[in-house]
Amino acid sequence: MADERTVEAILDAVAACAPEIRTALPGRRVESGETNPSGELRLAADEYADELIQDRLAEIDGIGAYASEEDEEIVDLGTGLSVAVDPLDGSSNLKPNNTMGTIVGIYDAALPASGRELVGAAYVLYGPITTMAAAVGASVTEYVIREGEREAVEEGLTLPEEPSIYGFGGRVPDWTDAFTEYAREIESDESLRLRYGGAMIGDVNQVLTYGGVFAYPALESAPNGKLRLQYEGNPIGYIVEAAGGASSDGERSLLDVEPTALHQRVPVHVGSSDLIDRLEARLG
Ligand code: AHG
Ligand code: MN
Ligand code: MN
Repeated sequence: MADERTVEAILDAVAACAPEIRTALPGRRVESGETNPSGELRLAADEYADELIQDRLAEIDGIGAYASEEDEEIVDLGTGLSVAVDPLDGSSNLKPNNTMGTIVGIYDAALPASGRELVGAAYVLYGPITTMAAAVGASVTEYVIREGEREAVEEGLTLPEEPSIYGFGGRVPDWTDAFTEYAREIESDESLRLRYGGAMIGDVNQVLTYGGVFAYPALESAPNGKLRLQYEGNPIGYIVEAAGGASSDGERSLLDVEPTALHQRVPVHVGSSDLIDRLEARLG
């Protein structure tokens, strides 16, 4: 089917970008002097990754639109699927040489789109090893990226039965009362330990690996949280749900959140279904 070939071509192109992005990082830790549409200072690395990925995707037939965390407007690439990208997630981790990622949401619809319109989603994790987790339909595959090529290492990846980690973003005094109560409940669970690295992709990959929950919740100062729906919340929700977990904005699956704007923010909570159920019992 044309779309499936296009989805695989997109995943191949993003995998091929990974070594070039990794190689480009050392010289691009400086701020570019520009801000992104979310009002955040951009690093030279954010801009490099955005331009590289856009150029490579523009060469693929079957992609109609490219959208990115770094660009105010959608780039028209003809007709076909829409791709929403966070070129470098957690770029504030670059200076301290910590994990970062690239996130891709592939929609069979015009943007901004509902997560239910996703036909594929993936993230690259720039960790000690460069890996990709990709969901196409109802299953997740983990790849090691070697010289820009995807090598499957685990198919049908699912969260472990027993969760063991949690990681919550935002400042504790800025959490809502309901989320604070949830956090206290999780912290008091002796089977769970804190793992928070400051880049969503690194934190989410730990949840896929060990089971648990990652959240960047609604804050008193930011009722919609920090993370963006189109290229952070939806693709990550799609991947975690395909791995047998759950996602929520506090009340419903992230994939059911109404799309209103390309850079709209959404509270993000993803992980083991029971822990998300307990969250919604508190926040819903
Ligand atoms: P990005 O670098 O793409 O803007 O993403 C950063 C996000 C996400 O990766 C992480 O979970 C969150 O910002 C961390 O936010 P704080 O710095 O407020 O903890
Ligand atoms: Mn991000
Ligand atoms: Mn980013």
